[in-house]
Amino acid sequence: MNTDGFSQRILKMQGSSTLKAALAATKLREQGFDVIDLTVGEPDFDTPEFIKSYANEGLAKGITKYTPSAGLTRFKEAIADHYNRRYGANLAPNQIAASCGGKQGLFNAITTIIDEGDEVLLPKPYWVTFPEIVNFCGGKNVFIETEQTGFVLSADQVKDSITDRTKLLVINSPSNPSGRVVPGEEMRKIFDLCGEKGIRVITDECYLLFVYPPAETFTAASLPSEYLDFICVSGSFSKTYAMTGWRIGYTITNDAWTKQMVKLQSHSATHPTSFVQYACAKAMENDKESFAAVDEMLSEYRKRRDWFIPALNGVDGIKCAMPEGAFYAFIDVRDHLGEKYPTSEDFGQAFLEESAVVTTDGTGFGSPGFIRLSYANSMENLERAVEKLREFVS
Ligand SMILES: Cc1ncc(COP(=O)(O)O)c(C=O)c1O
Repeated sequence: MNTDGFSQRILKMQGSSTLKAALAATKLREQGFDVIDLTVGEPDFDTPEFIKSYANEGLAKGITKYTPSAGLTRFKEAIADHYNRRYGANLAPNQIAASCGGKQGLFNAITTIIDEGDEVLLPKPYWVTFPEIVNFCGGKNVFIETEQTGFVLSADQVKDSITDRTKLLVINSPSNPSGRVVPGEEMRKIFDLCGEKGIRVITDECYLLFVYPPAETFTAASLPSEYLDFICVSGSFSKTYAMTGWRIGYTITNDAWTKQMVKLQSHSATHPTSFVQYACAKAMENDKESFAAVDEMLSEYRKRRDWFIPALNGVDGIKCAMPEGAFYAFIDVRDHLGEKYPTSEDFGQAFLEESAVVTTDGTGFGSPGFIRLSYANSMENLERAVEKLREFVS
């Protein structure tokens, strides 16, 4: 790669390992292989019809021009009202900013806080984008090991990692890649600790509604308003409503942090697409249809999870904790590592070449020895993938 003349900031940035894996799947498919792609980090459902029709309505009404950088007032009101109704929150529209997907909201939130040398706590395994944004800001990633607690972050683990340079903690629950959920009670302890120590928290809640009972959904937006003076919630329509291509999300925090993020956004993306904001506002105003759409997808994911995880654990030398949320299985393949496959990446590559099943290596998430399998895929493909894995390790 020609690196001449490019900034140090961008040269230090790693390409997304999840996108790399997806590219390997596309290449194999182009070569005519019958590929089972378990890399996909997006729902295998189409966007619900009622949301599509709201977008058409927005277009017909001529909502096709610039909106304020923070988003349409109707969008901000609809998000605030939705959280207030559903979670007993007490949000006002000035605490909401629309963003182009959760990813831009996270970028806005981290870059408005982190200066050179600031330490950012990232529990492992982390979503691949977090450390890259921190590096881009000149911050220092401080990773928290969580394997002892089955990849479920505890307040004690956070406490042990705090130094006088710690500025921010980034949490993602339900987690990509582990699917694990930090219980609400523990979250509250973590927030109280960070509040006491003057540490800000970004909580990436893009899988908020994909939680399987008896685990419970918990959003920091439902906490008393003083918590939002140091917490920023990142939300997204991408996974919840199968809208990954629409590029719409939002942040929830206090007015001051929101204003800084909106300033940044006003000099970059400006705002997410106007009629998409309109469609999402209308969807949030329609509890009946939006709850039904999520419930339908969730029950399908649950069926797959309930079959897939025990089936994976039934394969010789494969271990997987039961994920309480999201749509990923994060399997431990360390029993198979050694001379033949020194690393999980070698294991995944050999599995790909032998069985045409594409997976994502855990190293990019900070957990070598593990592999992420997405079950946002048909039952038929999941069954075939488990069979192929069984044959591969035998
Ligand atoms: C943990 C996590 N956060 C944020 C995102 C960003 O999603 P989007 O920008 O599509 O809202 C993703 C997408 O894969 C994710 O897995």
